[in-house]
Amino acid sequence: MAPAEIDQKYFLSYQTIHRTVRAMAEAVASSGFDPDLIVAIGTGGFIPARILKTFLKKPILTVGISYYGADNKPAKTPHTIQWIDEVEQKLQGRKVLLVDEVDDSRVTLEYCLRELLRHRPAEIAVAVLHNKRKEKRGCIPDEVHRYFVGEELEDRWICYPWDAVDIAAHQALAREGDPATFRPC
Ligand code: G4P
Ligand code: MG
Repeated sequence: MAPAEIDQKYFLSYQTIHRTVRAMAEAVASSGFDPDLIVAIGTGGFIPARILKTFLKKPILTVGISYYGADNKPAKTPHTIQWIDEVEQKLQGRKVLLVDEVDDSRVTLEYCLRELLRHRPAEIAVAVLHNKRKEKRGCIPDEVHRYFVGEELEDRWICYPWDAVDIAAHQALAREGDPATFRPC
């Protein structure tokens, strides 16, 4: 089901996200890809990765990468907030499912994939909740053959419930399929 769209923004509820992740987990399972571990890109990938774990039952490692600077504007390149040696040590020869919430410019995703590929995993696949249909500045490296996406969306701002200060107000905007939520702010 398409998310509620208000004032050119998409509003997503936790319930919708849970359903999208479940569908993604089913797509991963039916593709025959059986990851040894999930790597979540923080912070947006944390909650989707945790929900995926409910279905795939694999351990989660996390990396922190941000493309936004302190002024909340995109930096020149993504930068590492936190990178765990343990992540590197656990990659070699393993099948990895890299999880993030949104494939936007693809710059962060490419940066992260290239970093992880240096540690010789057996395979890396990508799972994102949402892919924005737009021209991408980053690319998925040739070594990556599987890309799972929960939902394709137009290039609009997506309001995730974990960013909401007032979750009840957010939920009211995100209420699934309610035509009353489709109105200008
Ligand atoms: P990509 O490689 O996955 O396409 O990400 P990109 O670098 O283009 O994204 C830059 C930042 O902008 C990321 O946050 C991403 O999560 C965030 N972002 C992009 N589009 C949207 C959107 O529509 N809604 C929201 N809420 N965020 C969006 P980040 O710097 O990684 O920080 P964090 O929020 O994950 O901690
Ligand atoms: Mg992010």
